[in-house]
Amino acid sequence: MSSTTALRPFDEIPGPKGHAIAGLLPDFNADPLGFLMNGFHAHGDLVSYRFGPKIALGKTILAAYHPDLVTRILMESERAFGRDTDGFRATSELVGKGLMTTEGAYWRSRRHILQPLFTPKRVARYTELMTAEAERIIVEHERFEGTEIDLHQAMMRYSLRVVGRALFGGEMDDAEADLHHLIPEANRGIMARTTQIPKLPLGFPIPANRRFVRTREGLYDLIDRVIDRSGSGSAADSSDNIVTRLRESKDPETGEGLTEQEVRNEALLLFMAGHETTAMGLTFGLHQIGRHPEIQDRIAAEIRANLAAGGSAADYAQNRETLGRAALAEALRLFPSVHMTERVANEDLELNGYRVPRGTSVFLVPWVTHRHPDFWPDPERFDPERFVGKHDRPRYAYFPFGGGPRVCIGEHFAVLASMVLMEALLRKYRITSHDAAISMKVLNSIRPDKDVRTTFERR
Ligand code: HEM
Repeated sequence: MSSTTALRPFDEIPGPKGHAIAGLLPDFNADPLGFLMNGFHAHGDLVSYRFGPKIALGKTILAAYHPDLVTRILMESERAFGRDTDGFRATSELVGKGLMTTEGAYWRSRRHILQPLFTPKRVARYTELMTAEAERIIVEHERFEGTEIDLHQAMMRYSLRVVGRALFGGEMDDAEADLHHLIPEANRGIMARTTQIPKLPLGFPIPANRRFVRTREGLYDLIDRVIDRSGSGSAADSSDNIVTRLRESKDPETGEGLTEQEVRNEALLLFMAGHETTAMGLTFGLHQIGRHPEIQDRIAAEIRANLAAGGSAADYAQNRETLGRAALAEALRLFPSVHMTERVANEDLELNGYRVPRGTSVFLVPWVTHRHPDFWPDPERFDPERFVGKHDRPRYAYFPFGGGPRVCIGEHFAVLASMVLMEALLRKYRITSHDAAISMKVLNSIRPDKDVRTTFERR
């Protein structure tokens, strides 16, 4: 740390007090998003939270809400700020070692191998597959025209199919029932393990650990089944899926490839990172569009105009300048699928004029920063125009895909898959969302906990 003598002490970072015995964890667990928003409104851009009991095992975590702090922490990830946090450790215990759950040389090597598979150009190769899956979802829902469906379930299915086929080259429909139960269990398990105080080794036979291990076995079993089939899909899919590419990849620096176990780990991690997040972006985005008929009509008109001008569905989906694209961005502002993430200070450092000791955890919370009133006037209003044309917001007032060296590798894939579906749906249907707000369960991601009641009617 450079000159820290003039810095204010760590203990003076403002924050809620919490109960002497229980700390803040019960309040956080009861309503994580409300709890973090309240902390921001009451205490400002850098807030100190004392989780866990005060007398022993107490752990103070900071939350950095201001875009300038977010910028610094994201840009200095892999240096001053690391990823060896309780949350990432719990994820790693569940889904193994891979790009998302490691740091340093191991992470760098994986990033080198995986990055070329996710460039905009590379991802564009999946447009055809996405278009076919979007059509398939629509055809499957034709018989429900005019009646209520659960949008969330439909988007989970679409996302399962596009992420599954891109990764493994084949259908994953038979895994849907297992995933329906395993994904919430995985999220619940990661959250429970992250906040477990004291953390007992997984081999310690308490019910929570047994449940965690069962979920892990279920996930590996599923990925083994799917991956064993990988390569047996249609010719186009099987030669060009991500697992096949991973098997062939070599680290450009070391020239080394991945073992079969490493391929499996990466595949599971990519699947876990990509499937639900993409489905959530679409669910929340289409729900908002279904609540704002005037915006929806403008997007539909844009889609018609593209076709009338001889453009293809893919042209629309790939166009960055559309209102549809802005609506997706705005949905990810209000409902970032990854509502928070965490880093740990790798060294003694300064944040916002305070001294921060090495080992301190820092939350980054898109949910809150995306509602910072200095950058987002009337923050709760769904207004895609915020993303139309130029604006003078700081870069990291908005970070649904993170940023810096650990930026989401699947961003282009997720946006393309979402826009392909939006184009196909709004070209044909008017959608109406029946609930003003989606009732949510917040674990390590946000997800609806009830049906997202929606009607599709032919335009
Ligand atoms: C709307 C959809 C998505 C959202 C909102 C999203 C969000 C994020 C965020 C915020 C991070 C950074 C977390 C941090 O810095 O701590 C991240 C990382 C990551 N995402 Fe995504 N993601 C999405 C889709 C995908 C897809 C489709 C894939 C792959 C198929 C994917 C794979 C990954 C991986 C592997 C990482 C870790 C990268 C690394 O640490 O180097 N994501 N994602």
